Amino acid sequence: MKGLKYYIKDSLKNHYAIGAYNFVNMEMLKGICEGAKETNSPTIVSVSEGAFKYMDENFVLGLYNSALKSYKDIPLFLHLDHGKSFEMCKKAVDLKFKSVMIDGSSLPFEENVAVTKKVVDYAHAHGVLVEAELGVLKGVEDEVSASENIYTNPLKAKEFVERTNCDTLAVAIGTSHGAYKFSGEAKLRFDILSEIEKNLPNFPLVLHGASSVPQKYVEKINRYGGDVKGAKGVDEKLLTKACKEHNIYKINTDTDLRMAYIATLREYIKENPTNIDSRKFNSLAIEEIKQLVIEKNRCFNNINRI
Ligand code: G3H
Ligand code: 13P
Ligand code: ZN
Repeated sequence: MKGLKYYIKDSLKNHYAIGAYNFVNMEMLKGICEGAKETNSPTIVSVSEGAFKYMDENFVLGLYNSALKSYKDIPLFLHLDHGKSFEMCKKAVDLKFKSVMIDGSSLPFEENVAVTKKVVDYAHAHGVLVEAELGVLKGVEDEVSASENIYTNPLKAKEFVERTNCDTLAVAIGTSHGAYKFSGEAKLRFDILSEIEKNLPNFPLVLHGASSVPQKYVEKINRYGGDVKGAKGVDEKLLTKACKEHNIYKINTDTDLRMAYIATLREYIKENPTNIDSRKFNSLAIEEIKQLVIEKNRCFNNINRI
């Protein structure tokens, strides 16, 4: 089967993006794989540091290796999302993750360069790809939070890539993590993205904080006792533009999967008060996540790419 390196090149050449979907349990992973199978899409399955602690390394690898066996024809790449230290990235490399992200975006430039380079040297010696980040996304980036977007500086991006030799770069162009991305009009700075691309021609870029926060989930969560009023995400048309017209090769999604999951559970539990069998609502959640991933892969132009 072709590796991640192949699909990175292929996605740039054919103007699609690979969905990077976060999972924290079997149900989410299964829903993601079911969706990927339906659309025949290479797929990145991401584990954040928080998810890594929640599941522990044996469960992460156990679930991933089970998914590889159950979905033999689908290229599934295990990725560390927002690794905050060399030690965490080293652990993921040693566990044979296919790629790791070192997120030094909250550090001063020189420190970000230094830690990224250290991770790159170790990961490349073990055949693992490295994603780095320059610029800060508004909202919560795991343990780091920022109230303002600090957009990626296009000139610094070129210097950063040359000095670190990272394989891919996450850029800040107006997206943010979580369910509340925009209070007013949802805008992305495609002008900054184009400048980055001028400085880094044909270099694979990553969009974080890319959930579209489907209003059907917002409504359902609110209707069944939750409170996520005013939640708003990235317009799907902008995501399609990012992969068709720009060099965004990977689009990260976590919030939408969480919302699909929790909306399904809330509705089922409220409508079926006598049920005590978790398989009932978890099966529905797997199906909902599957449908969501199918829609996303269409939006990312990632159909029949295997
Ligand atoms: O980018 C952040 C992801 O949504 C991971 O979130 O640290 O709560 O698992 P988490
Ligand atoms: P969302 O919160 O928009 O889903 O972003 C997820 C992400 O960037 C994971 O790294
Ligand atoms: Zn992220």
